[in-house]
Amino acid sequence: MFYTIVGTQWGDEGKGKIVDWLSSKADLVVRFQGGNNAGHTIKVDDDVYKLNLLPSGIIRNKKCLIGNGVVLDPWALINEISILTDQKILIDKNNLLIAENVCLILPIHKLIDEINELSRGNNIIGTTKKGIGPAYEDKVGRRAIRLCDLSDHKTLKNKIKNLYDFHEPRLKKFNKKADFEKAFEDLVKISSEIINFSAPVWKIINDAGKQNKFILFEGAQGSLLDIDFGTYPYVTSSNTSSGQIFSGTGFGIKENHNVLGITKAYTTRVGSGPFVTELDDETGDHFVEKGQEFGTVTKRRRRCGWFDSVLVKQSIAINGITDVVLTKLDVLDEIKEIKVCIGYESEKKKYNYLPFDENLHDKLMPIYETIPGWRTSTFGLTSWNQLPKKAQDYINFLELKIEKNISIISTGPDRVNTIDRNNLLNNS
Ligand code: GDP
Ligand code: IMO
Ligand code: MG
Repeated sequence: MFYTIVGTQWGDEGKGKIVDWLSSKADLVVRFQGGNNAGHTIKVDDDVYKLNLLPSGIIRNKKCLIGNGVVLDPWALINEISILTDQKILIDKNNLLIAENVCLILPIHKLIDEINELSRGNNIIGTTKKGIGPAYEDKVGRRAIRLCDLSDHKTLKNKIKNLYDFHEPRLKKFNKKADFEKAFEDLVKISSEIINFSAPVWKIINDAGKQNKFILFEGAQGSLLDIDFGTYPYVTSSNTSSGQIFSGTGFGIKENHNVLGITKAYTTRVGSGPFVTELDDETGDHFVEKGQEFGTVTKRRRRCGWFDSVLVKQSIAINGITDVVLTKLDVLDEIKEIKVCIGYESEKKKYNYLPFDENLHDKLMPIYETIPGWRTSTFGLTSWNQLPKKAQDYINFLELKIEKNISIISTGPDRVNTIDRNNLLNNS
């Protein structure tokens, strides 16, 4: 059985919670793109775990793999392992393996990330400043340092020098300097610790596939941040949609592959970029407070707005989503009238999709339908029948608009606060 979990909006949909929930069944949990720009939260009773690079299955001591599609900051990895060790989650090569061909984020990439943002002036993207974009640029530019380069220190030194030399003129323009010798020495210091996790992930995953093991692919970010299909240029630098699992891990297209689209019951976004249903009023503030909408990685206040069925429907198509998981339903509990965007209009035209032309985005107005709120608590409910009728109506309405079944509903941050309408967990 193969499951992929992807976000259908701009990230932070609750992917970590759902990966943790489903990973009770998994043999392997695999990250296939992004890096430590991700922030996945898992709540188990009184314990809260925040994961950036490590697959969320690590909390259940599942075998976790980091695929070649990820960009890996080795220092961030060591730091995350140490935080989790303090939380009594033990990590070694029995439960964590990293693709030998994964590309590394070096200190220079964070510096370039900063410069890139500075040079955009008013059009700043609002990146996480983790060096993600610059690391992917070096990968495509064929000068990246990969995990497998760490074992030969002589060639490693030359490769790092080449990479640093390549960027020097631009850094100079911004009065910045990157010390290649220091980067090399610092990397050598930790190289044996990192190499320890190195493995041919593509092979492990294919062997597991042949044995029909339960493999769970954990997406980071959301489809609207996808480098191709997102709200470019206000996106991340990887393909965040499900197609990336094949090139990001070496796992081929197979049968029995389900794709769960994690979708918040409203919409949020961190960083700049278009957001047609954004709310700049009390309701938006209510979402921030009740939903605790502050970035896991950067602590920034998330921008909040109404559910946008146009965008979710688009994401469902692009990802080949088989079932939708609706999260944070409980955050809507007090709302009197809930709006759902069902289309856009500009002065000239109506749209049932978001056009790619950046110049159009500011001109689009949402077309809403209004659904009465249920105004009673749904927090922690675990069965469909416990939901108030109006909450059921809201979910039924969303299903109609996005043309997909909402099979799982999350009613709180804890793994037990979950409604599994079709008993997917037990049937998997
Ligand atoms: P991810 O990046 O998609 O894994 O999501 P984040 O962890 O960044 O953000 C989701 C936040 O919502 C986390 O703090 C979760 O603990 C929390 N959360 C997840 N599901 C629910 C839910 O159904 N209700 C509430 N109230 N919080 C939730
Ligand atoms: P998870 O996995 C929400 C956003 C940043 C910025 C843009 C580019 O927790 O859902 P980057 O540092 O990737 O170059 O930043 O993407 N972004 C996220 N927003 N959730 C995330 O991950 C994100 N990862 C990146 O805020 O707008
Ligand atoms: Mg997050």
